Amino acid sequence: MSFYTASATAPVNIATLKYWGKRDKSLNLPTNSSISVTLSQDDLRTLTSVATSDEYKEDILWLNGKPESLTSERTKACLADLRKLRAEMEGTDPSLPQLSKWKLHIVSENNFPTAAGLASSAAGFAALVVAIAKLFKLPQDMSEISKIARKGSGSACRSLFGGYVAWEMGDLENGEDSKAVEVAPVSHWPTMKAAILVVSDDKKDTPSTSGMQTTVATSDLFEHRIKNVVPARFEEMKKSIHDKNFEVFGKLTMQDSNSFHAVCLDSYPPIFYLTDTSKKIIKLVHQLNDAEGKIIAAYTFDAGPNAVIYYEQQNESKVLGLIHKHFSLIPGWDKVDTSKLETVDIAA
Ligand code: DP6
Repeated sequence: MSFYTASATAPVNIATLKYWGKRDKSLNLPTNSSISVTLSQDDLRTLTSVATSDEYKEDILWLNGKPESLTSERTKACLADLRKLRAEMEGTDPSLPQLSKWKLHIVSENNFPTAAGLASSAAGFAALVVAIAKLFKLPQDMSEISKIARKGSGSACRSLFGGYVAWEMGDLENGEDSKAVEVAPVSHWPTMKAAILVVSDDKKDTPSTSGMQTTVATSDLFEHRIKNVVPARFEEMKKSIHDKNFEVFGKLTMQDSNSFHAVCLDSYPPIFYLTDTSKKIIKLVHQLNDAEGKIIAAYTFDAGPNAVIYYEQQNESKVLGLIHKHFSLIPGWDKVDTSKLETVDIAA
């Protein structure tokens, strides 16, 4: 019996310029480019181990200790692409074991609750694809491998890099170049921090995949967003990261979160992700920034009510102090479990 194994971890990433909309559903090509910050492996990550053997009879996946179906089209697309690349290598070097033909056993574990609305699919597909790419000893670089992770879940392609990451939408005609690229490593801006406010750990109301389809099909505002707003914002946000300009980065991050939730509301039927508690967090951050006379904290919300607040290390006590103070002062904040307030580092 021949047997090979490999493991990989991938952290969660949180978009500061949101991906929302597909121009090609099966290839997972986005309607706009996006930017994210990858969180630290120590805080929120998926660990995936893969094994392959000429004696395995079927592909099997265990997710957080439970057997899961490997029949989803997305997972099948990722496995097919990875096996194709491996088969090409085997074609040019017949001495290589024929791993492309063998079945895979995959074990995947998150170190955070899967349903907490914290982009678990991004870390999950990223870890899966990187682990198998390692197992197959594929020579492609991370941007090339990100094109495969993208087919699993769009946002997954960004989790292949640490630090500040862009997912370029790619050429409108074929999209072959729609991939993730590094904007800057974490070491470029080491004072950046993120606090995650878990408002609710319920499963998502409207899953991202179907939500964005509704938006693309029905929202007029969406057309304006992808044509007139995001292209310039994409360049400005990358510049703010290169310049380490928190005021610009924070403002663009908040504006883009608001723009994304506005197109959700403009969808028909409307999609609501923000709750009253989320809105209180938004107001509180603006109050803080107003009181400081500059932007020292920036909120962003994905397809759920949980907030991620970006801030710089030197402002940690001001930002977190205010959040803690208001948990008890504002009616409704008691719904927030302060024990779940986590601060996380940005990925190395
Ligand atoms: C709001 O990547 O989960 O988090 O490609 O259909 O799997 P699929 O969608 P997914 O959508 C993420 C949407 C978002 C914004 C973002 O992460 O950019």
